[in-house]
Amino acid sequence: MTAVEVRDLTYAYPDGTVALQGVDLAVADGERVAVLGPNGAGKTTLMLHLNGLIEAQSGWVAVNGRRVGPATVAAVRHEVGLVFQDPDDQLFMPTVRADVAFGPMNAGLPESEVAARVAAALDLVGMTDVADRAPHHLSLGQRRRVAIATVLAMDPAVLVLDEPSSNLDPAARREVADTLLQLGRSTIMVTHDLSYALQLCPRAVILSEGRIVADGPTRELLADAALLAEHRLELPYGFDPALTDRVGFGANRPAPDESADQQRRQ
Ligand SMILES: Nc1ncnc2c1ncn2[C@@H]1O[C@H](COP(=O)(O)OP(=O)(O)O)[C@@H](O)[C@H]1O
Ligand SMILES: [Mg+2]
Repeated sequence: MTAVEVRDLTYAYPDGTVALQGVDLAVADGERVAVLGPNGAGKTTLMLHLNGLIEAQSGWVAVNGRRVGPATVAAVRHEVGLVFQDPDDQLFMPTVRADVAFGPMNAGLPESEVAARVAAALDLVGMTDVADRAPHHLSLGQRRRVAIATVLAMDPAVLVLDEPSSNLDPAARREVADTLLQLGRSTIMVTHDLSYALQLCPRAVILSEGRIVADGPTRELLADAALLAEHRLELPYGFDPALTDRVGFGANRPAPDESADQQRRQ
């Protein structure tokens, strides 16, 4: 079953900037795919199409076999959960609990179901302890995990994350990774953090100038130095994808940089 299918999608902003020039992508149920690409490649624009925040100008997007369009967009928004790059775009209530409850309450779920969803979502992201705190008093890593919880509380079939590791310190980066690895649902993760992509996603695509220019196992893409250089993608200093353990399955694997440290110590 295909969770998300994108066919020949093109998009130009009102000022004429062409952001997508014929994107094709299919993501299977339960698959985790990284969308890699330099700044300005069209990653965020693609993401905004996946639940209809931007309407396709030509080509189409389908979620669970249903084309995204005016008649289906409300249903599609329940199926695709978007986690924005900046959690402050997602969190606006006085407490974490109220933020996570907001979606389920608006969906008209009964109070007991809302409470159960909030508890489960906060538990999944490890944020139960801060439920009664104000989101703006939390660290960026905590706010990002709460933003993920607001989306999980709606129980979407597909999770789409824009740059989930950006601006996080190493511990927070690992905590967000641990959270994502446990979720076990179709995930599309936009990033230019290549080691994060390798750790979390068995498959990756490269989006460059509005086109998918490569699609394959993340490890193979990252081993292709010429391909990376051509699309302004950089591995972290000293990082060798061939030296990392097989990744992308199971929970709580160490980050590649940590396993490299362990290998050096042994
Ligand atoms: N609101 C906008 N109006 C005009 N151009 C935009 C707008 N948002 C993004 N762009 C342009 O569209 C292209 C793709 O942007 P974006 O999807 O944000 O790329 P990425 O997320 O990969 O950095 C870039 O050239 C960017 O400058
Ligand atoms: Mg972006």
